[in-house]
Amino acid sequence: PDPDLRFPGGFLWGGATAANQIEGAYNEDGKGLSVQDVMPRGILTPPTQVPTPDNLKLEAIDFYHRYAEDIALLAEMGFKVFRFSIAWSRIFPLGDETEPNEEGLAFYDRVLDELEKHGIEPLVTISHYETPLHLARTYDGWTDRRLIGFFERYARTLFERYGERVRYWLTFNEINSVLHEPFLSGGIATPKDRLSEQDLYQAIHHELVASAAATRIAHEINPDIRIGCMILAVPTYPLTPDPRDVWAAKQAERANYAFGDLHVRGEYPGYLLRTLRDKGIELEITEADRVLLREHTVDFVSLSYYMSVCETATQEAPAGRGNLMGGVANPTLEASDWGWQIDPAGLRTTLNDYWDRWGKPLFIVENGLGARDVLVDGPDGPTVEDDYRIAYMNDHLVQVAQAVADGVEVLGYTSWGCIDLVSASTAQMSKRYGFIYVDRDDDGNGTLARYRKKSFGWYRDVIASNGACL
Ligand code: BG6
Repeated sequence: PDPDLRFPGGFLWGGATAANQIEGAYNEDGKGLSVQDVMPRGILTPPTQVPTPDNLKLEAIDFYHRYAEDIALLAEMGFKVFRFSIAWSRIFPLGDETEPNEEGLAFYDRVLDELEKHGIEPLVTISHYETPLHLARTYDGWTDRRLIGFFERYARTLFERYGERVRYWLTFNEINSVLHEPFLSGGIATPKDRLSEQDLYQAIHHELVASAAATRIAHEINPDIRIGCMILAVPTYPLTPDPRDVWAAKQAERANYAFGDLHVRGEYPGYLLRTLRDKGIELEITEADRVLLREHTVDFVSLSYYMSVCETATQEAPAGRGNLMGGVANPTLEASDWGWQIDPAGLRTTLNDYWDRWGKPLFIVENGLGARDVLVDGPDGPTVEDDYRIAYMNDHLVQVAQAVADGVEVLGYTSWGCIDLVSASTAQMSKRYGFIYVDRDDDGNGTLARYRKKSFGWYRDVIASNGACL
């Protein structure tokens, strides 16, 4: 351990999840269907008409019934914060109703009670890839301006109900991913290959306005609430020093930066206006939209970080694989079993870039390694010797500490899938991220029993020492 690498006092250590990947109970207590309920293979195949039994998310890891036991395990690791999302379709089953579903609201009361009992701070994502299916099918998701109003009503319901208990909120998970996965991310039912860029960018505009509107409502209800945007961070390096590659990489980064620029600075950046002009896109932006965007910017910026990619304008290079967006493979990096290239230093670069650019506190709300785990007998029962996961997280956290030493303000770190859950892109159970193993396989078989992996004890020590043992 390097004594110069320290985490600030009060650093929020914890883990992250999303409703559709953990809860199950997809049709209980009045819940409506979400886009996830018809995505049995994640983004690998088109959605089905109705939920099919092979969709692991319908039952997921049954957090809906086991939340107390699961939160107790997180508390045992010393979690300071737990990130989860609220399933929009539990609160508004169709999405366009005027009255919320009380049973859905009551479930999250119970989750918050349990977190409070253990002194764990909640971090709530309002929309995490689980748009009500009715909004996707009837309105074509965020392409329709009316979604702004539905989202405002949903967000207001949440802030009124939980605003005294939840300080940290995120509006849209990985909002920039809508560029690549319009159905998953934006509930846009029109297939990607038939969706015009005009409609896609208009949908993006609606989401950004809705995010600002939610920020306004939250601050009106309780000025102590902190609202963050959430960006899928994929640092993009030029494949070579050729200036054309440098420019190509810069443009790729800006496609993502634009979402942060709009959330933090509250206006369309010049480079994005040029992109829209070049594409012949004319957005419908009202004066009221401009005022909302300008006056209700975010309090902090959150990000997911798993990997980096390269970009080139000059070469035929192998496509990279990765978190919902491609790029070109980096010849200097190793990759996970799913082809995501592992780049701890890229996290330090990203944190520094975001801080330099926006000067807002940062929150790393996802990071981790999806890997195949093997359950073995240990002295205290079944376990997983997941040294690869420990190494991945240790290396990334050292880079976070470096960024803190560089002067970056980092509020906290929630590792992705702190308890094994169903993967988003591939809808697999076998792509595991957790400190806690859940006994369920890709065919849906298993007892759903929970077991502590080796990383469980490691993370407990990291939190207890506030990162000094890294
Ligand atoms: C992010 C999402 O894209 O990455 C999560 O916010 C997702 O929902 C995570 O689970 C890891 O991706 P995957 O596809 O391995 O589950």
